[in-house]
Amino acid sequence: MSNATPSRNTEDTLVLRRPDDWHVHLRDGSMLELVADLTARQFARAIVMPNLTPPVTTVAAAAAYRERILAALPPGRDFTPLMTAYLTDSIAADEIASGFESGVFTACKLYPANATTNSAHGVTDVRNLHGVLERMQAIGMPLLVHGEVTTPEVDIFDREAVFIERVLAPLLEDFPGLKVVLEHITTRDAVAFVEAGPDRLAATITAHHLRLDRNDLFVGGLRPHAYCLPVVKRRQHKEALRAAAASGNPKFFLGTDTAPHQRQDKESACGCAGIFSAPFAIESYAETFEELGALDRLEAFASEFGPRFYGLPLNEGTITLRREHNPVPDSIQGDGFTLVPFHAGESLSWRLD
Ligand code: DOR
Ligand code: ZN
Repeated sequence: MSNATPSRNTEDTLVLRRPDDWHVHLRDGSMLELVADLTARQFARAIVMPNLTPPVTTVAAAAAYRERILAALPPGRDFTPLMTAYLTDSIAADEIASGFESGVFTACKLYPANATTNSAHGVTDVRNLHGVLERMQAIGMPLLVHGEVTTPEVDIFDREAVFIERVLAPLLEDFPGLKVVLEHITTRDAVAFVEAGPDRLAATITAHHLRLDRNDLFVGGLRPHAYCLPVVKRRQHKEALRAAAASGNPKFFLGTDTAPHQRQDKESACGCAGIFSAPFAIESYAETFEELGALDRLEAFASEFGPRFYGLPLNEGTITLRREHNPVPDSIQGDGFTLVPFHAGESLSWRLD
């Protein structure tokens, strides 16, 4: 694992090939204005989730959303949003394929219906997707999976493991050429499954699942800003994720799942799921990799394994992190709303130049 410019790395300076974020929620409207650049200032490209209201189910909607993202960025920002199609029970294979072939769609996102935020139009049964998945397999279009069953009988902490067994394993067998990313993995079951699977199976790991376990939801009271889906799990699962991220295995790469919600929607009797990690994402990963004695593996995780899986070129530029006291604000003010970032009120030990 070599860094882009190893000679420039010291105890206090880390130069990385510019990273990509393979899973973000940029939202829309005034929220988009605020959050898009927080991602773009660190990452050269990002896979943009389609769970808007209404969801992004057509090529035209994705192209228009991509324009809004680019228009929201400061002039001269070098950032490429990679768009995804939101799969529904009735989406047409032709729509997806034409979007992929014209370069508008990079991948499709599978939300099991009602698994998470704005997933009501998601897929009720993967059997409904047979024709779509066949076409994706034929054209080499990746399937990005929110891997949780929604059956109320299944305990919320088991939903990922049960999904792997009941849905993902059969799906990989039924479509032996389909490229699949199991998104935001949270369990050692997922780590083991991805490790043992074929090369066409990979996983993204968020910054927050590398740092939080389920105890963090309840430290001294209920902590809505630690609530996301899939929900954080036992400490042993977090340890498995940390080991996977730091392992140098190219099947695991960076995807923050940054998911901003207005403060009052988080701090509510029925709080929204999502952790707004964009503002200090790369610093958070650096903190974790340093704790693991694996700073020399951060670059491959953040900047090499993702593009390699997607078949895209590596970025040319670099970013620089400096070892510096980096206090994270308690909140970030938008136009008429407030967001609470991941690590709010803490201090990180690296700062993006
Ligand atoms: O915590 C989450 N927030 N998980 C998801 O799957 C969706 C996301 C959101 O859009 O808020
Ligand atoms: Zn997400």
